Amino acid sequence: MSNTPRQRLPGDHPPDEEIARMLRVDHAGEYGATRIYEGQLDVLGRGRAAGAIRQMAETEKRHLDRFETLLRERRVRPTLLHPLWTATGYALGAATALMGERAAMACTVAVEEVIDEHYQRQAEQLGEEDPALRETILSFRADEIAHRDLAIAQGAEESLGYDLISAAVKTGSRLAIWLSTRL
Ligand SMILES: [Fe+2]
Ligand SMILES: [Fe+2]
Repeated sequence: MSNTPRQRLPGDHPPDEEIARMLRVDHAGEYGATRIYEGQLDVLGRGRAAGAIRQMAETEKRHLDRFETLLRERRVRPTLLHPLWTATGYALGAATALMGERAAMACTVAVEEVIDEHYQRQAEQLGEEDPALRETILSFRADEIAHRDLAIAQGAEESLGYDLISAAVKTGSRLAIWLSTRL
């Protein structure tokens, strides 16, 4: 606990509620990520990129497990949109995979870039508030950056329609974050 709480403005959420919202959206994001990779693996499970995708899927599962534990420990409910992310995450992964391995990797780059920014912003918001959570977020952020780099190494940027995929997936991911924070 900090001795000098930072000043809060009228309308600011109390720290506990703010942190609950952070956990809720992070849990949703990691869940969505596991669904994206499941969708990709169902299409590309025997392809050249399968090893890389499986490796990323395993990290996302670990991230998800951590946030599941945190939600349980702190009695935070998951987002009401959880069932929606089951379908849309999977559909996003499968659809981009059907466009080819590079398109799937372009999807990964876009998602991971949005999550990188999102975790960075959360870490800044937390400041000194919850050092353990901040450390978790920063360590996961490093994993997401590694995923982005892996996807680039797998040829993401050579994908046909890279800019279009990137813009669409980023918009969708930001919308999902916005919604999961509020619902
Ligand atoms: Fe993750
Ligand atoms: Fe990731």
